[in-house]
Amino acid sequence: MSDETDREADGDDVTDGGRGDRRFETRAIHAGQEPDPETGALMTPIHANSTYKQDAPGEHRGYEYSRTGNPTRTDLEANLADLESGTDARCFASGMAAINTVLNLLESGDHVVAGDDVYGGTHRILTQVYEQYDIETTFVDTTDHEAVADAMRPETELVWVETPTNPLMNVNDIEALSEIAHEGDALCAVDNTFATPYLQRPLELGADVVSQSLTKYLGGHSDTIGGALIVDGKGLDEKLGFYQNSVGATPGPFDSFLVLRGIKTLPVRMDRHCKNAAELARWLADHEAVERVYYPGLESHPQHELASEQMDDFGGMLSFELDGTLEQGSTVVAETEVFTLAESLGGVESLIEQPAAMTHAAIPREERLAAGLSDGLIRVSVGIEHVDDMKADLQQAFDAAF
Ligand SMILES: Cc1ncc(COP(=O)(O)O)c(C=O)c1O
Repeated sequence: MSDETDREADGDDVTDGGRGDRRFETRAIHAGQEPDPETGALMTPIHANSTYKQDAPGEHRGYEYSRTGNPTRTDLEANLADLESGTDARCFASGMAAINTVLNLLESGDHVVAGDDVYGGTHRILTQVYEQYDIETTFVDTTDHEAVADAMRPETELVWVETPTNPLMNVNDIEALSEIAHEGDALCAVDNTFATPYLQRPLELGADVVSQSLTKYLGGHSDTIGGALIVDGKGLDEKLGFYQNSVGATPGPFDSFLVLRGIKTLPVRMDRHCKNAAELARWLADHEAVERVYYPGLESHPQHELASEQMDDFGGMLSFELDGTLEQGSTVVAETEVFTLAESLGGVESLIEQPAAMTHAAIPREERLAAGLSDGLIRVSVGIEHVDDMKADLQQAFDAAF
């Protein structure tokens, strides 16, 4: 059942997406979820089954087979559609499976324009998987709108935008980039993983598809892998649903449950992530061991003004460059204790990593450097621990390295 059907059935005002006066915090907990009609259980049950009884051939109660649809997944999809201001959502076994499903919409000979500092896995699937099917991608600086417009070709079908970007925290103008895509009759897809719908809703700004790695802030506890695509009508849901079912990279009910459970605390977690990241960014910016800090909340950030308009807060991710050698950087990330040296982001615990050696190692070095991603860059996923413990931890790691 789509949440639009729900809303219409409730007689809500559909002009604002049926969300009425309910605020994000309330919808995070309730959207798409009702107490179980049979037992009254508040939490969506984990529907751990593969198939469903039919009363007569083709006569079923909405579910036939769990790859095609599972009630736990349905509740998660309805919740995500609501939070991202969309009409429909589709969930996948990973963020990459979600991205792959957008690319499934393309045909041989089509062309893609993508940011030159997108997540390494996005770069890899575009170049190493889809180029072999004759789908070429031009990577450009998506903060430079002229460069994006110049990269558009008659066969461009998709503009892929990440904002803030991973790991340089560049902020891209979703409204402007959607317009450029639409002028070229292309779709604009936005990877909203770093911001989450709590801080930024790309569909409201003109994007056609939102992609999420549920593995990160939405799950929020580093205990599951998942992905989602959210759309606002335009006939896209049916096409994405076809590929979701045909390719079959769908999440199991337990993973869907974990993400549903995580989303209930998304607003309170994000508030703390943002507060801690802002304080840590300022502390790092004043630190003698640090050459440069990348955080959209700092006034020195080149797109600080755009971020202030487009986002409700600046997020929990930041990167910095040490005023030192690559080896000193490696010592810092190995010495931290509150910050765990690990890939991924968006969990309650703080993580630290070196993109050149870890998350972005899939991008050739020259390309990485050209995109401004230096060997010495350190990326931090700021958790919700006490920020003073984070500062003390980084300080002892700096002391060990310098
Ligand atoms: C911005 C971004 N998008 C997509 C992905 C892919 O998500 P997943 O690891 O769930 O496949 C990641 C993973 O790190 C990411 O950082």
